Amino acid sequence: MHARAVAATTTALLGTAGLLIPTPQARAGEVGEPPGVIAHRGASAYAPENTLPAIDKAARLGFSWVENDVQRTKDGELVVIHDDSLRRTTNVEQVFPGRAPWKVKDFTAAEIARLDAGSWFGPTFAGTRVPTLKEYMRRVEHNHEKLLLEIKNPELYPGIERETLKLLSNEGWLDRPHLGRLIVQSFSADSLRIVHDLKPALTTGFLGTPSVVDLRRYARFTDLINPSYGSISATYVDTVHAFNGPHGRRLGVLTWTVNDAATAWTVARYGVDGVITNRPDVVWAALHGY
Ligand code: G3P
Ligand code: CA
Repeated sequence: MHARAVAATTTALLGTAGLLIPTPQARAGEVGEPPGVIAHRGASAYAPENTLPAIDKAARLGFSWVENDVQRTKDGELVVIHDDSLRRTTNVEQVFPGRAPWKVKDFTAAEIARLDAGSWFGPTFAGTRVPTLKEYMRRVEHNHEKLLLEIKNPELYPGIERETLKLLSNEGWLDRPHLGRLIVQSFSADSLRIVHDLKPALTTGFLGTPSVVDLRRYARFTDLINPSYGSISATYVDTVHAFNGPHGRRLGVLTWTVNDAATAWTVARYGVDGVITNRPDVVWAALHGY
């Protein structure tokens, strides 16, 4: 029903000198324009988070923006997984019983490739793997999707910013058209500053709710402030919007993790530019009056 409509309105040509800056909302900031919708860890209410089936499901539902989490294995492979431990979302305890606490950074890519990352979610997903970032980017490309990539726990992985950008470059994701489909975000301001310094043209998002007095400083390296929905108000969103980011455009706001209609309406009234959700269909229907 809404597949093409959403796809057609999720990238905005913004910025000066033809600079392509993506936001999940076309014409961000126009009164009455509903926020964009981003599938959190893929359509993670319906398929195991951060897996290829989760982004396939988002695409089937008609959503082009997906979010993920990137970490690094013991032997330096970038993989897509949320927790710093493999325990919650794989069968690592059965396969490697003596390796507690099963940290991602303590396992090789070959070991992680043996794990089942789908059965915990449901039997129909048995055999699903933890994707490498390379595999994941190829599927995002295949699905014509757009990516909100989170560098997760960067303090555990020195150098992960440069490595992530290298992989993105190798996969063709740092050319001009792809930069319009890519945002890199992190809870770490230091990590985000590194990303911005390495690739100034890239759109970045800070995860958190900086105090108002700090916003001017954040606006030097981040295009978006991405706060938890419970931490914001209409006044806060307006205040963020009053600043211009490193590309000369007003700072945007993508809020998380909103999974019900009532909260979606609330944050839409606040004026956020995008809503990050495990249930993109539910949020989209709420925002568009279905
Ligand atoms: O994209 C926002 C959200 O992913 C941040 O929290 O813990 O789900 O990575 P978390
Ligand atoms: Ca995340």
